[in-house]
Amino acid sequence: MAQSLIGLVDEKKGMLRSLGFDLRIVSVSDSKGTAVDVRGLNASELLKCKKSEWKGYRKYAAGYGALEAIRRIGSDVIVELTPSTMNGEPGLSNIKAALAAEKNVVTANKGPLVVAYRELVKMAKENGVKLFYEATVGAHVPVFCLVESCFKADELQSVSGILNATTNFVIGEMQKGKRFQEAIDEAVKAGWAETNYSDDVDGIDPARKLVIMANALFGEDAKLKDVKIKGIRHIEALVREASRQNKKVKLIGEITRNKGKLQMTVHPKQIPIDDALATVNEGNMAIKFTFKTSKEIFVSAQFLGPRQTAYAVLNDIVRTRTESIC
Ligand SMILES: NC(=O)c1ccc[n+]([C@@H]2O[C@H](COP(=O)([O-])OP(=O)(O)OC[C@H]3O[C@@H](n4cnc5c(N)ncnc54)[C@H](OP(=O)(O)O)[C@@H]3O)[C@@H](O)[C@H]2O)c1
Repeated sequence: MAQSLIGLVDEKKGMLRSLGFDLRIVSVSDSKGTAVDVRGLNASELLKCKKSEWKGYRKYAAGYGALEAIRRIGSDVIVELTPSTMNGEPGLSNIKAALAAEKNVVTANKGPLVVAYRELVKMAKENGVKLFYEATVGAHVPVFCLVESCFKADELQSVSGILNATTNFVIGEMQKGKRFQEAIDEAVKAGWAETNYSDDVDGIDPARKLVIMANALFGEDAKLKDVKIKGIRHIEALVREASRQNKKVKLIGEITRNKGKLQMTVHPKQIPIDDALATVNEGNMAIKFTFKTSKEIFVSAQFLGPRQTAYAVLNDIVRTRTESIC
């Protein structure tokens, strides 16, 4: 996705300039090293050289790690896009280093926020910088921006959403008559699933998103262990029964309150055909927010892949300049 972002920054250079934003990419780190040019790296050169494993590219230093680059290279914003892991690393250390160095942080990486949401938000405040993470939940589906900017005077009561593109695609294939394994094979072939798809089909990915929403939108101190999780490996009978009843099956992530206590669940659920969530097909994602006064607000987005996540990240980069809140 970082490559989509680099392409997008280049493509939107003119538009960003018209917003008073002269965006320069001064360094890019991957797992093996860092490319640096404080005058600005050329996007097409970066993309070409990454493809050929940086062969002959003089601006790339093998062994120069991301942490060192964050601490040493002057920049206003650090974009953290390493893989989402259970212990949050290496993203957690990268984000902490950036905040400690008084740099704004934009991330799509759920891992660090699931493990240390409160600590990171506190660090950002104490260091007078911003921490934006819109793309962590539902890629470009507006979640935090929407709730924070449009519903300040309302009270969020519950959230219910289709939060994982891979499983929505897989269940859709099963509803066309495929067995679970055939549907997964199709998802891998179509680029909707990685070959290691367990975080998706076992419900871990949507559970991480619930934890971030519980912490950011409900002011909780939730952890992944607090989420009741059921994945989609054994739903063939449920899908058949739903078809007989003219219903859809969706993997739903829910946050509700029961006697004042927040409950988080991820589970495959039969959805009546006239429910808005039943209309969300393929790899698309959607969230239904229920507010005390505004009642139901439904947001759905067509998700086609990393370019749209990259867009949400780029928008957050712009917000580091245009917004004053943390
Ligand atoms: N793809 C999406 O649409 C999407 C949507 C929402 C959220 N996200 C989240 O965004 C993040 C990035 O997603 P992705 O799809 O781009 O993942 P990805 O394809 O696995 O890319 C991860 C990148 O991180 C680099 N990396 C790994 N370890 C590193 C380290 N120790 N230091 C520096 N770089 C390191 C990798 O470098 P190498 O190239 O050297 O391996 C690679 O470039 C993930 O946390 C993901 O969950 C992605």
